[in-house]
Amino acid sequence: MTELKNNLLLKALRKEKVERPPVWMMRQAGRYLPDYIKLREKYDFFTRVQTPELATEITLQPVHQIGVDAAIIFSDILVIPQAMGVQVLMEEGKGPSLPNTIKTQKDIDALNTSNVDEHLKYVFDALALTKKELNGAVPLIGFAGAPWTIFCYMIEGKGSKTWDKAKQFAYTETNLAHQLLQKITTITIEYLTTQLQSGADCVQVFDSWAGSLSPEDFKTFAQPYLLQITDAVKDSGPVILFPKGTWYALEDLSKSSASAIGLDWTVSPKQARALTNNNITLQGNFDPAKLLAPIPQIKKWVKEMIDEFGAQNYIANLGHGITPNVPVDNAKAFVEAVKEYKDKKN
Ligand code: CP3
Repeated sequence: MTELKNNLLLKALRKEKVERPPVWMMRQAGRYLPDYIKLREKYDFFTRVQTPELATEITLQPVHQIGVDAAIIFSDILVIPQAMGVQVLMEEGKGPSLPNTIKTQKDIDALNTSNVDEHLKYVFDALALTKKELNGAVPLIGFAGAPWTIFCYMIEGKGSKTWDKAKQFAYTETNLAHQLLQKITTITIEYLTTQLQSGADCVQVFDSWAGSLSPEDFKTFAQPYLLQITDAVKDSGPVILFPKGTWYALEDLSKSSASAIGLDWTVSPKQARALTNNNITLQGNFDPAKLLAPIPQIKKWVKEMIDEFGAQNYIANLGHGITPNVPVDNAKAFVEAVKEYKDKKN
């Protein structure tokens, strides 16, 4: 195995001392990069995802062009419903749609949870190829959507501001909801474990729509499945949980077997450290919209953010995915500001 030349991310995940925090950006491979947009004109979304050479090329773009300390494999969270046998369409500029939503016991019984190695072979091949191409430059992150977030898409059939249909199903067909969440959990465990065996150095679980739930409902429909995944996967590699919008769960999650928790910008670094008792590595939480501000201002905010989190047990990142309208130079400035950071305590 090639040794990593830059292992800041893995050190931070193990709570080892670092000279500066590692930095990467959620959704760093994608729509704000001109070279990505060029590829988008030639190949449709799932061709890009399912062709290991293309996925690798896209994964490496932000490593070479933005200078991040980690690569995240180019794929999508919705490959899991596909592997379960559900059709997923991606309309450029419109987002995903799943024409056959889950409604009944029969629909749930028909869902596949096995042969992940076969159904998602292209992801594992892309990880292996990317790992090879990286040649140890930086660690490689694998990922999956969290059960609640995948459930939202499988019930609603498309994106939603309120996820009211997904919630209606959870509140009225509670037994079926738990069966579906469990099936997603089972296949996701297999998926993440195989990613770690195929070249991923760690994995992140994106619970993008966790914040649509009340604290009590998060405890019922999201948290148990997140913890089940973390417990089952942790021996294969470090797990980062990103349950967006759930600051109230930080204390509980800090006691989990996750290696880090990702935060959005609705919690301050100080509050997050207090809620987690300084027990766990934290990741985040720069508002991506702040990348639209002038560069000197971005750099000042990044320094303040690191000062407040502290440079140790910390991974600099955004509080959600980078948006397509961010200028490349501003994304670079975010990364540079972290790299320029000097830990006063060193
Ligand atoms: O760089 C990376 O982060 C790796 C690639 C990645 C993509 N999707 C590629 C993509 C990752 C980690 C994801 C995760 C993902 N996908 C999430 C969780 C993260 C988040 O932002 O909350 C979610 C909710 C999805 C589902 C999804 N995929 C949506 C809602 C959309 C359309 C809206 C959008 O973000 O553009 C996608 C499409 C998608 N996935 C694109 C990319 C680069 C854009 C489509 C395109 O470029 O043609």
